[in-house]
Amino acid sequence: MSHQILLTGGLGYIGSHTAVALFEAGFEPIIVDNLSNSNVEVLGRLEMLTGVSFPYYSIDVGDEKALNQIFEDHRIQGVIHFAAFKSVSESVTDPLKYFENNLGGLTVLLKSMRKHEVHKLVFSSSCTVYGQPSPGWEVSEESELKEPESPYGRTKSINEQMIRDAAKAFDLQAVILRYFNPVGAHTSALIGELPLGIPANLVPFLTQSVAGLRPPLTVFGNDYPTPDGTCIRDYIHVMDLANAHVAAIRLSVGNTPEIFNIGTGTGSSVMDVVHAFERSTGLSVPYTIGPRRSGDIVAVYANAHKAHQKLLWTPKYNLEDMMLHAWNWQKSLGNLNKQ
Ligand code: NAD
Ligand code: WQD
Repeated sequence: MSHQILLTGGLGYIGSHTAVALFEAGFEPIIVDNLSNSNVEVLGRLEMLTGVSFPYYSIDVGDEKALNQIFEDHRIQGVIHFAAFKSVSESVTDPLKYFENNLGGLTVLLKSMRKHEVHKLVFSSSCTVYGQPSPGWEVSEESELKEPESPYGRTKSINEQMIRDAAKAFDLQAVILRYFNPVGAHTSALIGELPLGIPANLVPFLTQSVAGLRPPLTVFGNDYPTPDGTCIRDYIHVMDLANAHVAAIRLSVGNTPEIFNIGTGTGSSVMDVVHAFERSTGLSVPYTIGPRRSGDIVAVYANAHKAHQKLLWTPKYNLEDMMLHAWNWQKSLGNLNKQ
C-alpha cells in the first residue's frame, strides 16, 4: 500500500499542485478542504490529471471531531498543512479571522496528530517572516527574522514557533518550507491559481489584465533603489514548489524542525516579470506606473542552498516558463473562474 499523506487545504493553489506531485511520486493524497478559498471542481480536475479520485473531506481543519475521524479511517503517515487564510490586506482589517483560522487550525491539527501518533508534518511558511533584509537582499534560513509587517505574517511566525515548541514536547518531525512568490500553473492548464475578486498579487492581475478582464496593470512604484526602480522578488513555479513538498515529506527529521527556503535564488523586478511575459507569450502587457503600495518591501530573494543540499531539490522552470503557464491557465479558466 502506498503512503497516505493528508493535505489540509489540498484543493487550493499550492495544495492541488502538490497533490499531483505526490501522486506521481507514489504517495496517496487524502484531501481536507472547507472550500473557503477553492472550488470543489478542482477535485474533478485532479482526477482528469491522475486518473484517480482522491479521498476528499469537506471539513474545517478546526473541527477536531471530524479531523480525528479522518485519522481513524485512514493510515495517514504524514500531513502537509496548507489550510490557512493568506490575504495580507484582509489580515490588517480582520486580524482575529487570521488568528482563529491560522493559529487555531494548526493547534487542532497538532492535537489530532499527537492523538493518532502521526509524526511527520510539512508546514507552509512564507518569506514574509524575513521582512526587508539588510544589508543585501538574499536571505538564508539563518537570516534574522523581522517583526511581521501584517497579522498574516505574524500568524506564520507564530505557527513556526508553535511547531518548534510542539516538536520539543512530543514526537513531531517537522519540515517548515518558507515559500518565496509562487506563480504559474500546471503545464496541462487543468489546475492553477483561483484568486477571488480583484487579484492583489502581481501575476494573476497581469494575466487578467492581458485577458481584458481588468484595467492595465499598475506597477506599484518605479523609484525604488533597484536597477530598474521596481521591487524585486523571487518567483518560483508552483510545480517546482510542489516537488519540494515531496522531498520534504521524504526527509527524515529529528525533534528540531528543519527549515528550508523554497525559491529559485534569482531576484526579478516587476518589469522583469512584465518582459518575461511578453517574451514567452508574444503579447504586450498594458501597464502604467503608479505610486508605491504601502507595506511593500524593496527586494528579497532566497538563498536556497540548504534545499539543494538536504532536500536534493532544484527548481527546473524559469520566469518565462512561469509566465507562459500562468497565461495558458488564464486562457483555460472557463467555468472555474470565480470572478
Ligand atoms: P489557497 O487559498 O489557494 O489554499 C488554501 C486552501 O485552504 C484553500 O483551498 C482553502 O479553501 C483551504 N482552507 C483555508 N482554511 C481552511 C480550514 N480552516 N479548513 C480547511 N480548509 C481550509 O492558498 P495557497 O496559495 O495554496 O497557499 C497555501 C499555503 O501556503 C497557505 O498556508 C499560505 O499561507 C501559504 N503561502 C502561500 C503563498 C502564496 O503566495 N500563495 C506564499 C507563502 C505561503
Ligand atoms: C509582487 C510585486 C508589488 C501587484 C505577497 C505576500 C507574501 C506572500 C506572497 C504569502 C511587488 C508588485 C503587485 C500589482 C505590482 N504570500 N505588484 N502591481 O507582495 O511580494 O508577497 O504574496 O505568504 O506574504 O505579501 O507579492 O504578487 O503582491 O507583489 O506592481 O498589481 O509586484 O509591488 O513588488 P508580494 P505580490
